[in-house]
Parts: sequence; structure tokens; C-alpha cells
Amino acid sequence: MKTVFSGIQPSGEVHLGNYLGAIRNWVALQDQYRCIYCLVDYHALTQTYDVKDMSARVWDVAIDLLALGVDPERSTLFLQSMVPEHTELCWVLNNVTGFGDLERMTQFKDKSGTQADNINVGLFDYPVLQAADILLYKAELVPVGQDQVQHLELARRIARSFNHRWGRVFPECNPLLSSTPKILGLDGQAKMSKSLGNSITLSEPEKSVRKKLARAATDPARVERTDPGDPDKCNVFTLHGFFSDDDTRGWVRQGCTTAGIGCVDCKTKLADNVLAHLGPYYERRAALAADRDRVRDILHAGAEKARAVARRTMDEVRGKLGLWR
Ligand code: TRP
Repeated sequence: MKTVFSGIQPSGEVHLGNYLGAIRNWVALQDQYRCIYCLVDYHALTQTYDVKDMSARVWDVAIDLLALGVDPERSTLFLQSMVPEHTELCWVLNNVTGFGDLERMTQFKDKSGTQADNINVGLFDYPVLQAADILLYKAELVPVGQDQVQHLELARRIARSFNHRWGRVFPECNPLLSSTPKILGLDGQAKMSKSLGNSITLSEPEKSVRKKLARAATDPARVERTDPGDPDKCNVFTLHGFFSDDDTRGWVRQGCTTAGIGCVDCKTKLADNVLAHLGPYYERRAALAADRDRVRDILHAGAEKARAVARRTMDEVRGKLGLWR
């Protein structure tokens, strides 16, 4: 059975974009693969953050993942900082990573622009820690978004350099891209993100979900109620694709292209369906939030399971390095 590994930043509550773009896929992969999912809190240190918020951020992502269907009976769910072998392997891999390769990473270049006051070495080394995350478990498949493909290419290169210099330990890892259509922010921006304030988190109250969807950006060409719209240029219609059945989508397409219905009608229907879809999730999340001990046990057990594998890999790695024992 192949091993799947993926990581998510503990940025607080999961939003609709994370769910549709990634987590849904994580849940489905559990049927076919040995899955290891990691909350990458050490990666999060590369950005400035409020110390007092961090544990709540981790907590919220953990219970969201569990509520959405990451199953600790079948998969390993754990916190990166509880398995120190991640940083240990990162240090080893640093020595087979080209400085120039890291300089070329577009995410590093982007972040150096947006956080120009804090361009630290951790930010530069971020992709090497990511490679260590994956290689520690010899994972072959890595479900990620398009924006992480460059990091995975680097991880493959690093694995090859290691194998070449010190002897074969690591397999090839490949991105597993989902076919999910791109979900824009509710304001129409290219990305749904909590920090941009254009997302719906999964634990948001009904009233707020309705209000946000009512204001969501639609096909910009449809200015007046009487203008026909193009559903294929409308983020709200993309969302209908996930939450509504064929009949409803047909009704929207027909109504939108002929100006038979207004955006308000379309959005009201979407809000109904989103809320119906998320109903069971709200219940599971509330149950987990009320049972801190259970969640803590799950994360500890996950870290134990992960560590057992990580220790074995590091023993093998140290053996190859020729370190004195
Ligand atoms: N860099 C990834 C992101 O920002 C998160 C991540 C860290 C990751 N380590 C990983 C993803 C290992 C896949 C595999 O989304």
C-alpha cells in the first residue's frame, strides 16, 4: 500500500476553500492509501504570529480535520513539533540542497515581498523542512494544490541528491493534484483565504454564512438584475457545483443566462444547500470541541505512530552518513 503524506498550516479554523480544495480529498484518499496528515506548526514559525493564538489555531484545525472525516483509526494525524525527527532530517537535507534552488522558489520570492520586514532563514529553508516531512515517511504521493508543485519538484531533487551522495534511502515522491475547480474568494480575488477576509469558515453561524454568500462576487458582467449572466464566469456557480444537485444547477444555469432569476435567488439556494451539507459537520465539530481529552489523545497517539516510523528512517539515514556511534 502506498503512503500518502500531506501537511496543513495551523492557521485556525478551516474554511470552505481548504475543505473543497484539499481536505475533502484527504478524506477520500484514506480508502486507498496509508495516509499521514500533519499540522505543520514548525513551518508556521516562518511568519510573524501572535504567540497567545497559536495553540488555539492548532486546536481548531485539528478538530476541523477530525470533524470533516480524517479518521484516526485508519490514518495518522499529528503535530509536526511533536516529532523532532522532522527538523533533524531537515538539517541533513540542507546539505544536499542548492542555495540557488531555494532562491528560485516562487513562494519564497512572494513571501519576501509580502513580509519584507521578516525575511528569515526559516522562510528560506521552508521547502527543505517540507521535503523532510515527506521523506521521513518515504511517502510516494503528496496531495497538494498547484502552488506546491515547485516545492515537490525540489523535494524530489533533494531525495535524488541524498541517494546519490549517501546511498539509496528515499523513494520518488509525486504530487497528487485534485481536479477540483478553482475556488475564488467571496470577493472575487484569486484565492479564498482567512487573512484576506473573503472566506467562510466551517464553524461559522448560519446567519453569517447567509450574509457572506449574499454579498459574494458573481459574474462581473452581470451588473443589473435584467442583464443575463455567464455561470461559467461565476464563483457562486462553481460553489453550486459542490453543494447542489443537477436539477438545481440546471435551474441556475437557465435562469442566469436568460436573466430569469436574479443573483439573490441563486445565492439563497446556494446558502440553503451549503448549510444542509455542513449540518452533520457542525454536530461532529461541537462534540469534539466538548471533548478536549479525546482530541489530545488522538494527537498524542498520532505522534507516537509517526515517531516510530520517523525514528527508523533517521537510524537508516545516520547509518548512511557514516556518523560515529
Ligand atoms: N507548504 C504546504 C502549504 O503551504 C504545507 C506543507 C508543509 C506540506 N509540509 C508539507 C504539504 C508536506 C505537503 C507535504 O500548503
